[in-house]
Amino acid sequence: MNEQTAPSVPEETVPFQQWPKVELHRHLEGSVRFETAWQWARKNPALAHLEQEKLRRLIEFDGVRDFAHFLGRFRVLRQLYTAPDAVRQVAREAVEDAALENIRYLELRFSPDHFASHAGFDMEDVASWILEAARAAAHDHGVEVRFLLTIARNYDFQTASRILSIALRFRDLGIVGLDLAGNELMYPAEPFVELFVRAREEGLGITVHAGEAGTAAHVWEAIDRLGAHRIGHGIRSADDPKLLEELRRRNISLEVCLTSNVQTGVVPSLAEHPLPRLLEARVPVVLCSDDPRVSRITLTDEWYNALQLGLSVEALTHLTMQAVEHTFLPADEKRGLRQRLAAEIASLIPGRPS
Ligand code: HPA
Ligand code: ZN
Repeated sequence: MNEQTAPSVPEETVPFQQWPKVELHRHLEGSVRFETAWQWARKNPALAHLEQEKLRRLIEFDGVRDFAHFLGRFRVLRQLYTAPDAVRQVAREAVEDAALENIRYLELRFSPDHFASHAGFDMEDVASWILEAARAAAHDHGVEVRFLLTIARNYDFQTASRILSIALRFRDLGIVGLDLAGNELMYPAEPFVELFVRAREEGLGITVHAGEAGTAAHVWEAIDRLGAHRIGHGIRSADDPKLLEELRRRNISLEVCLTSNVQTGVVPSLAEHPLPRLLEARVPVVLCSDDPRVSRITLTDEWYNALQLGLSVEALTHLTMQAVEHTFLPADEKRGLRQRLAAEIASLIPGRPS
């Protein structure tokens, strides 16, 4: 953000909820409202016996700061999808939630397998339900939504390969990228290299969860072998000056999710998060929420957390405008988004007509 658009309001009084936002790392899997989870859990005999607070402890952050334990939430969440309407409802509400906090552009990621496996749905059907429901909600609420399909590291090659095929088939419906997620400590990325290389050749954006619970070496692998344009988390890059230089040189952005990193135990506390060091090293960063309903946060909360880490309002608006450059949109669509956001941000700054 340049001098002219720097806001002059006292930072503690900034109503961040109203600010226009860009969200590039949000899992549909982790965007399920608890009330909706409860509603659908009643319909599944495997979950129906659970008391409400027990279900809550199984699908939301429960105070245990451990990476594998955090990922364990998704094994329970998978079991909610006993009917197509459960899938559609979750997709619709995720977009509604984004609209409620003024996210103007959302890249929503999901694994078709996550929503298909419990009931034995076809992954392609599931993808079409999600795309249709989310696109309708996006239209109704004025959010621009695109999608990334997620491959989890524990998937077999055939499942991963089918997910790539679905991504390529549904590009007209807004799929713009491919994501690798899951436990980097237990599952190597190597089996998926050829799929990610192909996805990139086909023009999909590539983002890889790496250097979260793992190390800078996982980030090197993501950029050198899988062709990542962006890195999910990537915070361990802070340990490797050569890598920081490379991320800067190649303009590869880190999708930083502050609360998620504390809850998975990969940083000891918010105060010790390496975000300020990453910004100091001038590495491209986008601020994201990861799994808002598992973590019980919004992207707005993460803006306040960033403020606590010493970022200014000016820095946060700058990060928002930077995020536009790291979306997986084509150049002409980036230009339109950039103009709309800049105008809206300018209109929020006292004394500056939009
Ligand atoms: N890391 C890896 N996989 C994930 C995460 C995460 O933080 N959230 C959802 N899937
Ligand atoms: Zn993630």
